[in-house]
Amino acid sequence: MDVVRPARPADAEPIAIVHRVTWRLAYRGLLPAAYLRRLRHEPLVARWRDVIAGRGRRDRVWVAERDGGIVGFAESGASDARDLEPGFAGEVYMLYVHPAHQGQGLGRRLLDAALADLEERGFFWAVIGVLERNAPARRFYERAGFVADGARWVDHTGGGQHVVVRYARPLNPLVPDP
Ligand SMILES: CC(C)(COP(=O)(O)OP(=O)(O)OC[C@H]1O[C@@H](n2cnc3c(N)ncnc32)[C@H](O)[C@@H]1OP(=O)(O)O)[C@@H](O)C(=O)NCCC(=O)NCCS
Repeated sequence: MDVVRPARPADAEPIAIVHRVTWRLAYRGLLPAAYLRRLRHEPLVARWRDVIAGRGRRDRVWVAERDGGIVGFAESGASDARDLEPGFAGEVYMLYVHPAHQGQGLGRRLLDAALADLEERGFFWAVIGVLERNAPARRFYERAGFVADGARWVDHTGGGQHVVVRYARPLNPLVPDP
């Protein structure tokens, strides 16, 4: 059975496992190999404990469970994009599904949970930064109604230089339904 729900403190460990496995595969050839090799379990668990506990940027975390095991996660919160009015846009900072469970609807369900929460919190717009060369992810977001909004920047994760493009989608309709 598949369940998508907010993360609990005990989820930090399984999220870290999915994080490491998914990054190593999805970002092979996109992020520096040495950086991907260096991703260690314990620092990732500590990171996820902090995020789930609401420390730092106070993001929210969502998990996808399949038959009781965590196979995907999303992290969302207020966008810190400098060109957007504070409070206007929410952001999905991370969205990953374990390679063995991709293409089976879980990514969309995680995205929907994160977007519904951002909408409920009053954000009008949702943004997502995607590596320009991550073509499958870009297609996934386009399928979910996102469009590239023209913003782009260079990210230095792992010591490299990677172009990130921003995708955006409206949340709360600005014009009420008739
Ligand atoms: C991107 C990712 C989160 C999508 O999750 P997923 O569970 O594989 O996707 P879903 O099965 O929920 O697909 C939802 C929809 O997107 C479409 N889709 C998914 N991946 C696609 C792709 N590569 N190309 C085109 N369409 C795609 C599906 O066909 C489906 O469309 P439908 O609703 O019309 O049937 C997941 O594949 C993943 O973790 N990829 C590797 C990491 C990554 O790049 N994450 C994004 C970082 S920004």
